[in-house]
Amino acid sequence: MMLNMQFEQRVMINTHDHPWQPSPVSGVWRKPLAREEAERGHATSIVRYDPGASFPRHEHPLGEEILVLDGIFSDEHGDFGAGTYFRNPPGSSHAPFSVEGCVLLVKLHQFLPDDAAQVCIDTPRAGWLPGQGNRKVMPLHEFAAEHVALEKWPAGEHCQPHRHFGGEEIFVLSGELKDEHGTYPRGTWLRSPHMSEHCPYAEQETVIWVKTGHLSVVDRASDGGPR
Ligand SMILES: [Fe+2]
Ligand SMILES: [Fe+2]
Repeated sequence: MMLNMQFEQRVMINTHDHPWQPSPVSGVWRKPLAREEAERGHATSIVRYDPGASFPRHEHPLGEEILVLDGIFSDEHGDFGAGTYFRNPPGSSHAPFSVEGCVLLVKLHQFLPDDAAQVCIDTPRAGWLPGQGNRKVMPLHEFAAEHVALEKWPAGEHCQPHRHFGGEEIFVLSGELKDEHGTYPRGTWLRSPHMSEHCPYAEQETVIWVKTGHLSVVDRASDGGPR
């Protein structure tokens, strides 16, 4: 049941091309991107709640990271619309549901054990900062070598060739990113290993979620929620 757990390998998945698979919970569907075991351990997935679906209360032994892609995701802490970025740290728990349905990018069991920050950022209302080149950046989290951000690339933006120390993981939220290895339209998940290189560019305005520095420090074991 191991899927894409060789972090030294490059993985590219256009999630729109993959079928939804049922989860153990009725009305909750998923597209597995990386997975350590069937229902526990490291997992990265696109998760869909049908309208009215709920997931049982669960803990996050090594944390849960969520980006709401569509709809409204809810738990006992509130209702969270598209663009909300969460980090529910190791030891946290909740009972999520969705009244109108939602689609999420979910990463489970990938925190460093002492990364204890509870994060909830409403990215459509947070401000962009100047980034490299003509890009804009919205920092979401930093801990040890790990950095998480949104980046907005204007049409025609070219990045300098660069190498990924600790790897790079990208999810394309809108537009289309390209590099010398391929083309990554909206909904593409791209995981590039430690010390990989590329020279990306965007021909149209493109927004990506991007995480760097984490792929040499991923831990493994135990449990979590919808994955
Ligand atoms: Fe890169
Ligand atoms: Fe959860």
